[in-house]
Amino acid sequence: MYSYQGFLNTMHIIKVNATDSTNLHLKRLMSATALKDFTVLVADSQLNGIGQAGTVWNSEPGKNLTFSVLKHFEKLKADQGFTISMALSLTLIEVFRELEIPQLAIKWPNDIMSGNKKICGILIENTLKGSKLKQAILGIGINVNQENFSGLPNAASLKQISGKTFQLDVLLNRLLKLMNTSLDMDNQNAEELSSAYEDLLYMRDQIAIYEINEEQVEGMIRGISQAGKLLVETKNGKEIECGLKEIKYP
Ligand code: BTN
Repeated sequence: MYSYQGFLNTMHIIKVNATDSTNLHLKRLMSATALKDFTVLVADSQLNGIGQAGTVWNSEPGKNLTFSVLKHFEKLKADQGFTISMALSLTLIEVFRELEIPQLAIKWPNDIMSGNKKICGILIENTLKGSKLKQAILGIGINVNQENFSGLPNAASLKQISGKTFQLDVLLNRLLKLMNTSLDMDNQNAEELSSAYEDLLYMRDQIAIYEINEEQVEGMIRGISQAGKLLVETKNGKEIECGLKEIKYP
């Protein structure tokens, strides 16, 4: 394990060969010592990567990016967690756009898609204190150079999509540099974030059959609510607000 200070001395990067999960590892470090804002933990290999809603995140060692960033916040309110999610998703889209990855979209809440393939997953764990959101662990898994996703028909890597091999460190540095600015939430405008996020929403305005709370519903994704939930307009003109485990895509 080694660490170094990143650009502008604002970033603290710890690299490990292997760990269970970079989110779990970062939490263990935090309980042992006070970590500075924007501490980043990167692992070549995760043995027990965690996905959203109790799923697992599998990633071939040395081929992909799996890392977590600790971010402190001063002024964020407890109910503003989704603004972090939007800012991070949009930053990832920006980097993938620079790499000319086609058909980029955000599948609510924060899967990054290229066409119908998931190229990146995000797991955000917030810490609240009273009415404030004090810090978040931003866990990011990007499928970069992996060429085989057996059993995961909806996953793909940047390499599979573009035909190019990417340098993991270069990609990580670019992303961290952008995140260093975009996650300064005091200087983010929630309305602008929502509007940019909704413009990139996967399957927005497309008629499809969704499973919402175990019922088949024909409708269209329209946007997100103030609370960051997904808004689906049904065929009969009714608006349904969906939470994380409440909707399944076709
Ligand atoms: C998802 O799409 O389900 C979220 C996947 C998040 C995976 C990343 S990899 C780095 C960090 N450490 C983890 O254990 N999970 C996140």
